[in-house]
Amino acid sequence: MKMRSFASFSCIAAACLLVACGNNATTDKPAGDSATIAPAAGAALPDANLFKDSMESKMTALYILKNKNNASVAITNYGARVVSLLVPDKNGTLTDVALGYDSIGKYIHQPETYFGAIVGRYGNRIAKGKFKLNGIEYKLATNNGANHLHGGLKGFGAHVWDAKKLNDSTLELTYLSQDQEEGYPGNLQAKVTYTLSGDSANSLKIDYEATTDKATVLNLTNHTYFNLNGQGSGTINNHLLFLNADRYTPVDSTLIPTGKLEPVAGTPFDFLQPAAVGSRIDANNEQLKFGKGYDHNFVLNANKGAGLNLAATVQGDQSGIFMEVLTMEPGIQFYGGNFMNGGNPLKGGKKDDHRTAFCLETQHYPDSPNEPSFPSTELKPGGKYKTSTEYRFTVKK
Ligand code: GLA
Repeated sequence: MKMRSFASFSCIAAACLLVACGNNATTDKPAGDSATIAPAAGAALPDANLFKDSMESKMTALYILKNKNNASVAITNYGARVVSLLVPDKNGTLTDVALGYDSIGKYIHQPETYFGAIVGRYGNRIAKGKFKLNGIEYKLATNNGANHLHGGLKGFGAHVWDAKKLNDSTLELTYLSQDQEEGYPGNLQAKVTYTLSGDSANSLKIDYEATTDKATVLNLTNHTYFNLNGQGSGTINNHLLFLNADRYTPVDSTLIPTGKLEPVAGTPFDFLQPAAVGSRIDANNEQLKFGKGYDHNFVLNANKGAGLNLAATVQGDQSGIFMEVLTMEPGIQFYGGNFMNGGNPLKGGKKDDHRTAFCLETQHYPDSPNEPSFPSTELKPGGKYKTSTEYRFTVKK
């Protein structure tokens, strides 16, 4: 019922946009006054004019990628963020599965600062904001209690990237993170390429690359908050989740890994058989108490073939939208929206609320710079950081 009224409201909004803007083709420029794409039915893309601003001596804008199936993604170069991601549901209605704001101002001023962002220089936590590399101790900003989280006070998601639209379905974004930014060593040149394709599935691929002029640590990820029934459409606790992980990294009460890899078997962390996200969330389990729900890194089972490894699948219980996450990374953070509290105005007049979105952040394990037994996150001068993650969307009826 809720979904239907959302869909019909969105249809009207989309129809109004069509009348107001005419039929819009994507250009190699940022989307502007006449470049807002109005999908055939369902959710609409945000107004690109509300993303024009100037910061850090650069212009911010909204870029639209689309594929032949009429799926589209809106990305802003403020934090290289996914603002909207429109894919068809089981009835063919375009559904916006990514939470976001409808203007650049809200990305800067609203309390939730990670919607859709590329997170860096180090995604997730570094204990006490300190690490040693080649005998030198580095001190980072502490912005999560005593710990460093998601790159610090002003991470990669809060800077303006340089954007270059390579074609209708590809956007390249680059950012130079200066030596000592947030305390990290080395000038780090980062490049993120988003590609929306549509052959066997509607797929959003993110390719990450980086080089440095001094040894540093690096862990890039994307922090999109997903709701596969449509952003702002209620709880994600009935979404069906599969995680390709026999083990996870338990944490202390500040969400820093203990260093152990523990089996998920017999715990609420076992998603080897698809299960509703919320089916065991109230279990009497210390790890769930520490995370206030799920907020943990899963150790992905080794890749059996060449290419990207299947890390997770999620199915929207109402929409039938089925998302597969494939990655080259060894871990994935499953965050179930435990800190969401209704304080953020989403696109289309919607609101977030407790556990109304989830994040699947592909990554190296949290606090790796302080855990020699975890896969290394060091990048050396002359070396190249290269990793990819893909989100594929189909439907299950
Ligand atoms: C990550 C963290 C969470 C939380 C969210 C953002 O997923 O692990 O604890 O900080 O980001 O709110």
